[in-house]
Amino acid sequence: MTMATRFIENKSQDCLRTKAAKVALVQVLETLTPTSVIGIGTGATVEVFVKLLAESNATFSHCVSSSERSSKALEVAGLVTKPIAESSSLDFYIDGIDEGLNNGVTVKGGGAALAREKVLATQASTFITIADDSRLVEKLGIFPLPIEILPAAKSSVVHTLKTMGGVPKEREGCVTDNGNIILDVSGLDMMKPKQLELHLNSMPGVVENGIFAYRSADLMVFSNAEGSYCLFEK
Ligand code: 5RP
Repeated sequence: MTMATRFIENKSQDCLRTKAAKVALVQVLETLTPTSVIGIGTGATVEVFVKLLAESNATFSHCVSSSERSSKALEVAGLVTKPIAESSSLDFYIDGIDEGLNNGVTVKGGGAALAREKVLATQASTFITIADDSRLVEKLGIFPLPIEILPAAKSSVVHTLKTMGGVPKEREGCVTDNGNIILDVSGLDMMKPKQLELHLNSMPGVVENGIFAYRSADLMVFSNAEGSYCLFEK
């Protein structure tokens, strides 16, 4: 995918998360209708988006949440939600990222919600990511890759990942909303993200991995001290 760039100056005292979330909200409001459904990712950045969305008093149908954490944030904000199990299509999906390439391919899962996040991102007509631009990278792999696995498959998946050159580390004290565990894996060759995404998901016991290459972002909003910029599909 080839992405084009648009710069938006914003030298306000807004924190970087707010700068990115505000731009994403403007994008969403441009085409939002009373029947629109908005998928909500997980993490501190998307929680800023949730707050801004509620403050905008925009009219739309409802939100679908990717985690228990985000469901709480949506409830606090007073936004209507419907269960993810009842969702099959979304107009927008908004989420943070742990790292991303300028072609829309990202790595997610720092908040342990990657499996439901990928379900929602895949349902969305428009997938928008928001982050400060320290997360825009030239090569994936700086952030250890989160992989959600069945607890029963831990030893076999760890073994297989090691044969691939990976260094898996179980995330301490982490049980996902699906009752599984997370391995944070460094050392894998991430040069072919689509192939790796598919290969990891073919391992028995792997529920999902944090590479979003098959469902890459349509619009990436990044912020820095000067303002924000959007990378979007041409
Ligand atoms: C959760 C995620 C988050 O989107 C990612 O970790 C970014 O989080 P934050 O906005 O808190 O930096 O993938 O599973």
